[in-house]
Amino acid sequence: MIERFPAGDVTLSVQQLGTGPPLLLVHGFPLDHTMWTGQAAELAQAWRVIAPDLRGFGRSQVVPGTATMSQLADDLARLLDTLQITGPVTYCGLSMGGYIAWQFWRRHRERLARLVLCDTRAVADTPEVARGRQLVADQVLAEGARVAADAMLGRLFSDHTRQQQPQLVDQTRQVILATDPQGIAAAQRGMAQRPDVTTWLPEIAVPTLVVCGAHDAISGPAEMQAIARAIPGARYAELPDAGHMAPLESAAGFNAALRSFLAG
Ligand code: MLT
Repeated sequence: MIERFPAGDVTLSVQQLGTGPPLLLVHGFPLDHTMWTGQAAELAQAWRVIAPDLRGFGRSQVVPGTATMSQLADDLARLLDTLQITGPVTYCGLSMGGYIAWQFWRRHRERLARLVLCDTRAVADTPEVARGRQLVADQVLAEGARVAADAMLGRLFSDHTRQQQPQLVDQTRQVILATDPQGIAAAQRGMAQRPDVTTWLPEIAVPTLVVCGAHDAISGPAEMQAIARAIPGARYAELPDAGHMAPLESAAGFNAALRSFLAG
């Protein structure tokens, strides 16, 4: 079921399914909760799945300006308040959802039972990449979401997915095209400002699973293996046919890795 809930100063659209311990699924950029379609129903057999659209995305409220990763993490904490989930959750985030995870851990660590980090990065943007984001933000505002679709789609999926599951690429394009340019620009500016959190990793004391698509062109296996090595006791799983959108591209493999982690 999809409903809208207040989360601090914004209203977020949220898909909730199932009952059981809470599992928060946090989407990447510039997407929405539908990227978890391959997970939500299956995991809802044993979990209370909570898959929000972050501010500025999907059907959630759009706030022009800058959406920092801390602000997005606080939105999620306020959403959990609204849903009266006071115990710790399993937080599963992809890419930008992972950037937000670092802030959720830092700011709301008492609310965190486990972490699942998919295709994400711990380093900050280089100045050049940060400048590129500002440029894309300006262009999206001037010309529309198509600019973001053109900039992102070539890097999100593996060749295997493009050939075997082209519908996923088309569906993702539609999601991006339907996203409000103000939401895209705000998140781009927020990601450009995000800090390098590499030194935080050895302090993360919750059970952690790191998942990476073997052909991820944005946050590849070497980088994600380094994240897994730096977090004490973290597990690492690699999905051979997937790119950056591993949970969407290899849903069965991803769910198997997640289930095994959650059972442990
Ligand atoms: C994402 O999938 O969330 C993006 O690749 C994040 C980014 O642009 O760094």
